[in-house]
Amino acid sequence: MTSCCLSDFSYKKLNYKKYVVDSRLRYFKPHATKIEKSFAEEISFSLSQDSKFINPKFFYDSTGSSLFETICSLPEYYPTRTEIEILKSLESDLLPFLDKETKLVELGSGASVKTKLIIDIFTKLQSKTDYFPIDISEILAESSEQLLKDYETLHITGIIDTYEGGLEFLKNYDEKKNLIIFLGSSFGNFTPDDGKLFLKNIFSTMKSGDLFLIGLDLVKDKNILESAYDDSADVTAQFNLNVLSRINNELDGDFDLNNFSHYSIYNENEQRIEMNLKSLMPQSVIVSKSNLHLQLVKNELIHTEYSHKYTVNQIKQILNDAGFEIKKMWLDEKKYFSLTLVSKN
Ligand code: AVI
Repeated sequence: MTSCCLSDFSYKKLNYKKYVVDSRLRYFKPHATKIEKSFAEEISFSLSQDSKFINPKFFYDSTGSSLFETICSLPEYYPTRTEIEILKSLESDLLPFLDKETKLVELGSGASVKTKLIIDIFTKLQSKTDYFPIDISEILAESSEQLLKDYETLHITGIIDTYEGGLEFLKNYDEKKNLIIFLGSSFGNFTPDDGKLFLKNIFSTMKSGDLFLIGLDLVKDKNILESAYDDSADVTAQFNLNVLSRINNELDGDFDLNNFSHYSIYNENEQRIEMNLKSLMPQSVIVSKSNLHLQLVKNELIHTEYSHKYTVNQIKQILNDAGFEIKKMWLDEKKYFSLTLVSKN
């Protein structure tokens, strides 16, 4: 008999606290979160460098998150609908890799169409489906409630922690196989070094036999890429500029958003969209809570995001380098986007 279940799972030893909402919903949260630098400290560092930057993780306050939702349905922003198109077609290909007890683990939390398409596949095979969203933000509480309404046989265990922390926690959880999903090409927002480290960490927290499904955006025509990140309705521009509003609101900054423009280009050599905020004039800005007094010259760029694009061979290489075995890869008809299933043997 395999050992399993929460009763004999020593989550306390791992220093997590359990919160039970009802018989189908519970959360685990570490007692002490890893010591992360605060928003104020990170901004203080990144905006005082010669080449100024803001980490894209700061885009997602509530305004930023809802602007991102709008981006996902823009005609120019092909990644979301293309990934959905692929997900809709992979049921019969994915089913043979799953069994009646496989757990679904998602990096990031979603009540989105994409998460549901995967849950649909699980619920066809299983009479009870266990879903483990991992997210550092408590936002997963909201999305979980909605999912439970949609699926009667779904049981959710949210892990409020970093992806690596959550996976480490799950490694010791039970003997059942995990399918870990990381969709949307969010991996492309890492720098190449951080990306490599991230995959190595994921690999090391997986049990032998676990599966990992990753969505990655593919290299394509420069015009298609540049319009996807500079749309005609200017939603991406608002999304980019919103990070300055966030600094104003949360760190007592005095950025005048009218003095900046959204500047996004595709760098063909590096195969990435580079998103920046351009200072339209010489200006000085104060960010009180970061102890900053910035001087910006005309046309100076504040880098805000990379969005890397890959060839099929590069994807295979990156995943193999991290130790994974490639099981299957799916592309859409236009070869705009990819989903790759890998395992740890
Ligand atoms: C979240 N991430 C995968 C998006 C992307 O396409 O890189 C973020 C984004 N930035 C501008 N538009 C969308």
